[in-house]
Amino acid sequence: MKNEPSHPRPSEDDRRNALTAIGALITGFLGAIIPAGVGVVTLLDSLRQRPKPRAFRDNNSGVNSSGTGDYVRIAHVDAVPPDGQPRRFTVRMDQVDAWNFTADYPVGAVYVRRTKEGEGKVQVFHSTCPHAGCSVAPSVDGQAFHCPCHNSAFDLEGKRVVKTGKENPSPRDLDQFDCDPEKLAEGEIWIRFQNFETGEEEKKPML
Ligand code: FES
Repeated sequence: MKNEPSHPRPSEDDRRNALTAIGALITGFLGAIIPAGVGVVTLLDSLRQRPKPRAFRDNNSGVNSSGTGDYVRIAHVDAVPPDGQPRRFTVRMDQVDAWNFTADYPVGAVYVRRTKEGEGKVQVFHSTCPHAGCSVAPSVDGQAFHCPCHNSAFDLEGKRVVKTGKENPSPRDLDQFDCDPEKLAEGEIWIRFQNFETGEEEKKPML
């Protein structure tokens, strides 16, 4: 009697069907993975190539001005009162992160005042109180800056002042910015705007 194999050999049709199924699987896999891979490469490439914008909004005219390094234009000196009183300006810059570009975004505010040192000389202060981050404002008599949150006070030079019987909780003077000297010589106020840590005796850039 002839012995029958326990596992019959697959027929030619079975092998062909199996190969067709494997081919379909591979084709389907490649069809899904290749577009996904191309998408990831394209995304990474666009992130790598996206330039950091260097055009900043002109605060007065609303016209984009080409950036000078990281300086941002605040105003023309003529926009600041000549009598030494501070004027507040909103600082607007183009913002970019990994996904979004936002033009003309308000990133903070500064107070600018002319000094008595000479024509065109100005002081620029961050409007944020160094104590805990509230906004300072000129006092009613215009002779100081005052923070309404915990009563910090600063003179018009940005120095802390202690009023009789009151404490000044600010750990340092108002944060001041240097102006681009070349621009200032042309009557333009440009600064490198940044935020600073609050609650510290030293002025430390916020990272
Ligand atoms: S935040 Fe200005 S005094 Fe506290």
